[in-house]
Amino acid sequence: MGRLADRVAIVTGAAAGIGRAIARRFAAEGAAVLAVDRNAEGLEATVAGITGEGGRTRELVEDVGEPGAADRIAAACLEAFGRIDVLVNNAGIGGSHEVLETSEEEWARMLHVNLTSVFRLSRRVLAEMRRQGGGRIVNTASVFGTTAFPGAASYSAAKAGVIALTRSMAVDYAPAGVTVNAIAPGLILTDMTRARLVGDPRYRALMLEATPLGRPGTPEDVAGAALFLASLAGGSSRRARLEGAFSALHSRGQELVERLWSGLRAIDGVSVYGPPPSERRTPTVSFTVRDVSSDDVARALAEQAVFVSNGDFYATTVVTRLGHAADGVVRAGCACYTTLDEVERLLDGVREVASSPRPPRP
Ligand SMILES: NC(=O)c1ccc[n+]([C@@H]2O[C@H](COP(=O)([O-])OP(=O)(O)OC[C@H]3O[C@@H](n4cnc5c(N)ncnc54)[C@H](O)[C@@H]3O)[C@@H](O)[C@H]2O)c1
Repeated sequence: MGRLADRVAIVTGAAAGIGRAIARRFAAEGAAVLAVDRNAEGLEATVAGITGEGGRTRELVEDVGEPGAADRIAAACLEAFGRIDVLVNNAGIGGSHEVLETSEEEWARMLHVNLTSVFRLSRRVLAEMRRQGGGRIVNTASVFGTTAFPGAASYSAAKAGVIALTRSMAVDYAPAGVTVNAIAPGLILTDMTRARLVGDPRYRALMLEATPLGRPGTPEDVAGAALFLASLAGGSSRRARLEGAFSALHSRGQELVERLWSGLRAIDGVSVYGPPPSERRTPTVSFTVRDVSSDDVARALAEQAVFVSNGDFYATTVVTRLGHAADGVVRAGCACYTTLDEVERLLDGVREVASSPRPPRP
């Protein structure tokens, strides 16, 4: 007897990635699944997979962002299976940017697909669940909803909205027997992330280095969390954080800047100012190289250029340029994307500058 035997579930974004894995896992656990996606071809493959494994499923080609989509999805589920026990709001898009590069169109589309559609479908399905005496809603949020990461303003805002909406609905509908939860995955290998993971070796190396398991999460990992939340027996509401690389990256940023600080202090001719980065509000390192101007240091280190001049690396800025200031002090901080190799290369660069013969002073 499966953990979702006799339950009826709607899964959006079921044509690929996480949504497909959830639909398959739910069906394997005995649920009848309405698989929803705007991608007809992918949806067919999902449904064929489930049917091939003996599962019960129907497909509905629908764009969750379209007006009336929520009504059509709920109606299709009721018509096919007669009730709705579980809703997984998983359809979503990526591809956002930092604020200065975010158009009105991108902002509107991102919030529409990743947040408003969750509100609309939940509203429609909650009415049904309340009538039935209970249900389970699981929303796919993201660690981006709680943690700043570079170049993802509209996506992060939408996912933060999903988390807040999840909390509100959880509180409002617990008395009606509906649990509402969100999963906040970190890096999961799907179509959304594959291009960058495969096409950007540095990003891939960094992510893998920062992931204790040495691999990105899989859609099946997330499906396991979704199954747990969908099959909760009591009235519990939780947010499962599957952060993996992301939390590790953030604590590692601190580690890297500490390494830079101690490495610089060990170089003859380099003066490092102030307390260790851990004791500073902004974790940067300020230093000078004896008898060499900060311009010369900056020029000499331009090749190793991986540092921010004045940014808070926990915020969203990654400036890939060594900064130097008019006061003659070089300021460096580790950005989230910086690797240990790059810190060591930078230290090599400083060593070289500090030990090279000084140009004659005018
Ligand atoms: N992959 C990750 O690292 C990761 C991390 C955190 C959160 N997420 C979230 O997980 C969810 C699933 O993402 P994924 O990684 O499986 O991506 P994916 O691109 O592999 O799959 C997303 C699916 O959603 C569908 N979809 C997109 N917009 C839609 C719309 N308007 N109407 C109907 N269907 C639509 C797509 O056609 C696709 O089948 C998304 O909400 C995403 O934001 C992904």
